[in-house]
Amino acid sequence: MAIKFEHVSFQYKSIDNKGYLALDDVNVVIENTGEFITLIGETGSGKSTLVQHMNALLTPSKGSMNILGVKISSTAKENKDVQFNPIRKQVGLVFQFPEYQLFEETVEKDIMFGPKNFGVSESEAKKRAREAINIVGLDDSYLSRSPFNLSGGEKKRVSIAGILAMEPDILILDEPTSGLDPRGRDALLEVFYQIHTSLNKTVLIITHDMNTVYEYAKRVLVMREGALVYDGDPVKLFSRKNIDNWNLDVPDIIQLKDALESNFHLDMSGTIRNKKALLKRLEEVLS
Ligand SMILES: Nc1ncnc2c1ncn2[C@@H]1O[C@H](COP(=O)(O)OP(=O)(O)OP(=O)(O)O)[C@@H](O)[C@H]1O
Ligand SMILES: [Mg+2]
Repeated sequence: MAIKFEHVSFQYKSIDNKGYLALDDVNVVIENTGEFITLIGETGSGKSTLVQHMNALLTPSKGSMNILGVKISSTAKENKDVQFNPIRKQVGLVFQFPEYQLFEETVEKDIMFGPKNFGVSESEAKKRAREAINIVGLDDSYLSRSPFNLSGGEKKRVSIAGILAMEPDILILDEPTSGLDPRGRDALLEVFYQIHTSLNKTVLIITHDMNTVYEYAKRVLVMREGALVYDGDPVKLFSRKNIDNWNLDVPDIIQLKDALESNFHLDMSGTIRNKKALLKRLEEVLS
């Protein structure tokens, strides 16, 4: 067990001092033995707040968390006894808004910042910056550019490269593919999936794209009004009737499969999670 939340609630402070309850009694366990998880839920449901707890950027108002053996509760915040630095190195978090993460003069310095901060040598950090920028689909020429003069999608890629270069054990990405063109989105998802499969790392992705959830995730978490309302298999989730109440879209593949069944009376039974599987099934039933 790498991350365990027990009855975690979190309240943002507000000007009127009433506070805003963004997390409401969340219990969850994330293993670091190679899970691929998606976290979904409507806008404002608490997804970003939840993942900012996972690397101790935010700490609970109530309840407690155990992150890689470090216990953090509402009373035990960071001090000389509880160190959060190792957590930040091992649990890499890519922010929803890349602007929060980019601040150096050049892309290269920005990507090198994390590794250097955690004790990696200058030359090794440079090497990792070059590798990471290529992994996210940008060429070396970007290294000398200012991160502030990049497009939204390029900034997003640079912020992802900065976290990849730290080589974290657990990779958490807050809407990493929003604002990217479809080809760029698919290529990056493949990168995350490769990191998960070839290095056996746990990857958690926040997304509003139900196709990503259905095609890639073995486990999906659903947030609603600060509470975790579902934790399990995506196939079971989308076969449930209550997803309408949770304002979730139905993945394209399920809609297509349903239309083929009801309009053409084709037998599309079995688990079909992507285009390739759908085409294979079509070939079988039409031959
Ligand atoms: N710094 C803050 N101060 C006060 N309230 C906040 C702050 N950040 C977020 N909130 C509130 O907490 C709730 C949860 O926000 P959060 O950003 O976690 O949602 P989210 O599920 O990530 O949404 P989205 O899909 O739009 O990114 C929202 O109602 C939001 O308005
Ligand atoms: Mg968010």
